[in-house]
Formats: sequence, C-alpha cells, structure tokens
Amino acid sequence: MSRIKESILVTKPFLPPIEEYYEAMKDIWSSKWLTNNGPKHKKFERCLEDHLEVDNLSLFVNGTLALDLAIKALDLDGEVITTPFTFAATSHVIVSNGLIPVFCDIELNTFNIDPEKIESLITEKTSAILAVHIFGNPANVQKIEEIANKYNLKVIYDAAQAFGVEINGESIANFGYISMFSLHATKVFNSIEGGVLTYKDVSLKEKLELLRNFGYCKGKGPQLVGTNAKMNEFQAIMGLLNLNYYQQEIEKRKDIAKQYREKLKDISGISYLKEQDNIKYNYAYFPIIVTDEFHFSRDELFEKLIKNNIYTKKYYTPLCSNYDSYRDKDILKGHLTNANFLADRVLSLPIYGDLTNQEVDYICNCIFDLSS
Ligand SMILES: Cc1ncc(COP(=O)(O)O)c(C=O)c1O
Repeated sequence: MSRIKESILVTKPFLPPIEEYYEAMKDIWSSKWLTNNGPKHKKFERCLEDHLEVDNLSLFVNGTLALDLAIKALDLDGEVITTPFTFAATSHVIVSNGLIPVFCDIELNTFNIDPEKIESLITEKTSAILAVHIFGNPANVQKIEEIANKYNLKVIYDAAQAFGVEINGESIANFGYISMFSLHATKVFNSIEGGVLTYKDVSLKEKLELLRNFGYCKGKGPQLVGTNAKMNEFQAIMGLLNLNYYQQEIEKRKDIAKQYREKLKDISGISYLKEQDNIKYNYAYFPIIVTDEFHFSRDELFEKLIKNNIYTKKYYTPLCSNYDSYRDKDILKGHLTNANFLADRVLSLPIYGDLTNQEVDYICNCIFDLSS
C-alpha cells in the first residue's frame, strides 16, 4: 500500500461558504456592535433554544468558562463526583473553584461514569455529580438522576461533545440540572470558540448572565465577582451559519463511522462501542479499543500510524486523576480499574465530514496490515 502524501488529521473544523460569512459580517460592520449581547448573539441564543428544545439557555465565550460559571452559579461546595476519563476542562473547573474532585470509575461499554460505583463515593460533603457524555455517548442519565434525587445532589452534565444527541427522541440538553455544550472549532457544531449552558431553573439566567459580564448589573456596578466570558458577534454569526450545515456534517460522519465499523470488525484486538437503538448519535469521535490480541499496543499503533501520515489521538490519557498539576491538590479516587484499562487502550481515529472514502480505506488498510 503506497503512503499518502497529505497528513490525515484526527479532525478538521467545519466552515460555511466564505461568501456567507462575509455577508453576515456586513451586518456587524453596519451596527458596529461587536460584543456585549449584540443582535447576532441574541438571535443565536433564540435559535439554539429552539434547536436544542430547551426553555433556558445562555451563551459564553467557550465551554470551559461556561462550566466554571455553572459551578459558581450553583454555589457548590465540598466534593464533586466526576469521571477521570475526560478532557482536562471537566476536572480543572472543579479544582479551580476550590472543590474536591472525587474520581469515580467508568463503564467499559460506554466509557462514561459508572452509576453503580457512584453511591459508595457519596459523603456528607458531596454537593454534586459532574458527569460527562464522553465522545458524545450519553451517560446513564436515568440512574444518575435517581442517585441525585436520593441524596439531594445537583447533576451537571459536561455535554461538551454531545451537541445534537438525543435519548429516546429527547434532546440531551434536557437532562440534569445544567448541561454545558462546547462550540469549539473541533466540535461537530462550532462557533469558532463558544460555550452553551442549558438549564431547568429560569432563576439561574440572571445570575449566569451577570457572572459572564464581570458581575455587572446596569446602574448598580458589580453585584457578583464575575469574569469576562461573553460570546462576541463574530462567533455568533459563525454559529448561526453552521447551524444550517451541521446536520449534513453529522450525516457524513455517520457514514464514515459505518465504514469504520464494517472494515474494522474482523480485526482481532480492535473493537469499538456498540450503538444503542434509542440514541441519536452525533458521531463526534470514533474511538477504538486496542486490546492485547492486536499485534501492537495502542501506543505502538499510534506511532506506526503517524509513520503512515495518520494522526490519531490518545483520548484520554493521562486520566485526570493522574495529572501532575493536581499533585499538591486535594483529590479523591475510587477504584479506577476500568478507567486505567481504557486509558492505555483507547485511540480516536480521524473523523470529519470531508474525510474521503479513500482515506477511510487507507486508514483501515493500515490498521489491518499492522494487525499481523
Ligand atoms: C469533555 C470536554 N469538556 C470541556 C471542554 C471544554 O470546552 P471548550 O474547549 O469550549 O472550552 C471540552 C472541549 O474542548 C471537552 O471535550
């Protein structure tokens, strides 16, 4: 098999036609309203409310600050139970708010927090569960809800990767007390950078919107110690335009995921997550599990693929529970058997709408050739 010339990256941002962005920018030039809750921002907020089928939604400059402000708005204290198998932002916002992350093990079949292992980690100091829909696969929302109700805990979902996902026909934005979606460039749906909070309790709206604007209240000055987490108009127009295209992007990715499943299914030592019938997926990622039956370890496969110009990602290693940056912080851990197992074996393959069938073939053939 001949080596391809151009690198295949793990993802590529979706961009709308440049003429459309240029047209939309003209409105910004006319209004001279660049940021601070401008007309495009307002329109984007309304469109997303409809799109995600939620009553309450606020926009932020990025997902990390959105999650950070969600924690602040809820005045959480003490311990927060979360998953170690996630992007740094999830646990960083717990630690940076002076809270103690309690890392709970994950399920082998979803890579998400294992609800069966949550209860034993609850103490009188626990104030919330911060679960993640990792790779866009929904966490077990029903069981998490039951536990939260039993112990009177708040549930926040880091749905950064789960835009557009549905559970039994219902928008994933409607589960938990607050959900956060990231609209970062690498996500299925992007606004360059961006963050969204959806929430059930309308009374949070005012507080969240004060917090994202330095705590400023018109005529009164800062009423809260807020920050600058405002989305600007350029982000909002990118989001508005991409909203017209992202379902197409998901359809293309769905087809790529189907090809991966078909082409990798008989390779010994390579497996992937099973799809559940009641879930509408967004195909944000295509993680595979490289087990001992494969000729090479996950790390060796990663290196060999680079030699073939294919760039995958070792999501998620190290686990958040092993970060050097938490060495002098208070953190707690359950038995993280599955999380440790997966951290050494999961590899995310390239997936994005523009990935060609030939490139998918090439990636699968490379993995096949390395399998013996
Ligand atoms: C699971 C998870 N949480 C949080 C974030 C942070 O979002 P952002 O990059 O928009 O700040 C990301 C994405 O980058 C993510 O994948």
